Amino acid sequence: MSSNAHNTHTGETCRLELGSKSYELPVITGTQQEKAIDITSLRAKSGYITLDSGYGNTGSTQSEVTYIDGENGVLKYRGIPVEVLAEKSDFVETSYLLVYGKLPTADELSAFRKQLTYHSLIHEDMLSFYDGYPPQAHPMAILSSMVCSLSTYYPDSLDPNDEEQVKRIVPRLLSKLRTIAAYSFKKSIGQPVIYPKNDLSFCENFLYMMFAVPSESYEVDPEWVKTLNMLFILHGDHEQNCSTSTVRLVGSSDANLFASISAGICALWGPKHGGANQAVIEMLERIHKDGGNVDAVIRRAKDRRDPFRLSGFGHRVYKNFDPRAKVIKSACDRILGTLGVHDPLLDIAKRIEELALSDTYFLERKLYPNVDFYSGILYRVMGIPTEMFTVMFALGRLPGWIAHWLEMKRRGEQIGRPRQIYQGGVDVPYVPLAER
Ligand code: CMC
Repeated sequence: MSSNAHNTHTGETCRLELGSKSYELPVITGTQQEKAIDITSLRAKSGYITLDSGYGNTGSTQSEVTYIDGENGVLKYRGIPVEVLAEKSDFVETSYLLVYGKLPTADELSAFRKQLTYHSLIHEDMLSFYDGYPPQAHPMAILSSMVCSLSTYYPDSLDPNDEEQVKRIVPRLLSKLRTIAAYSFKKSIGQPVIYPKNDLSFCENFLYMMFAVPSESYEVDPEWVKTLNMLFILHGDHEQNCSTSTVRLVGSSDANLFASISAGICALWGPKHGGANQAVIEMLERIHKDGGNVDAVIRRAKDRRDPFRLSGFGHRVYKNFDPRAKVIKSACDRILGTLGVHDPLLDIAKRIEELALSDTYFLERKLYPNVDFYSGILYRVMGIPTEMFTVMFALGRLPGWIAHWLEMKRRGEQIGRPRQIYQGGVDVPYVPLAER
């Protein structure tokens, strides 16, 4: 199906004047009244392209998955506010919602849970892959490589245009990423891997594989299961962010789902994206170690000659509170209060927020705490090491990546291939080596 079949032109147009010529461009309106000028025909008609480095003004698709209103701090998956899902749903149900587009019936949910339970093992040979990495290997590198390697075990499920093949691998991937992540932690600390147990729920099983040891029995704390469900739900999707756009771009070449997700994991790793959750805790630990001088850090973040940025602050789309950060901050207060844990890093984080939100630098630029600012505090009390934080983000984001990849395939979108304006040399002669 061609992407034009989905265009929702409403009759409204935009007139573009270029020299003596003018062009009529259709306007598209979304279900939440967002507007876009459709420039699909612009180059063919005028010879001009548009330039938008960083894509701040460019829509790459029309999507039914997630809606964000960055001015008002609104985030909805398939039309349902994320706060409602974080309170009432669990990660498996929310994954179903994201991937298949609707809340499941009881039967659908139970069948989906079963699929996630029975596909949790990875091929035993893959365990030896972990031995090839140095002990200090970052788990995001391992995660991305292992996901791409999974494709080698499913040679009959790699055709991205065969619906049956794709249908088969979606629950497998959702289930196995969790196992791969937990095994990479066990390997990094020199403990034997713990195999998944089929009588445990999705998040419970992950915590079990992370923290159980073969020599004694281990009960997963239900409070942590609840917290992990909430955190994964909040990370579930965020429309056309850097990693999702990467997954879509790779998938647009007809690369298989494993390869596309593996690329998305790499994009997420960067500290301007999912890697920020690790960077935040490392920043808070540094401040704590240096005596807690928050003012100096704020001063550095404002110094435009200094590349330092306040990790966990600012967002391309949110120009108000990130609704995910609000939920996580109040969960931090509630959970640490119940446990009677006093974490000095939480105090430092709150002090940073307080100072930043009364400072004109941050106010003028509309820089607020984002999802990564408080999430690490919770992961820390759960016993998850800092290097695994971005892996946790990836586990939560997987259903979102899959949902967008599937949507792109259904829409039959073209290969993603941006243009450019060339600014290099013109007719440069080749000078033989001896004359240079
Ligand atoms: N600390 C200090 N100044 C900042 C920050 C920050 N965290 N973020 C943006 N600014 C300033 C920036 O220097 C610029 O100032 P000026 O107009 O004087 O040049 C202005 O605010 C606009 O910044 P930008 O870089 O043009 O904004 P962007 O939309 O391209 O970048 C961002 C968004 C998230 C990459 C950026 O805010 C950032 O680097 N934040 C820190 C990293 C972070 O927390 N990332 C996680 C994002 S949320 C989860 C996710 O997506 O994974």
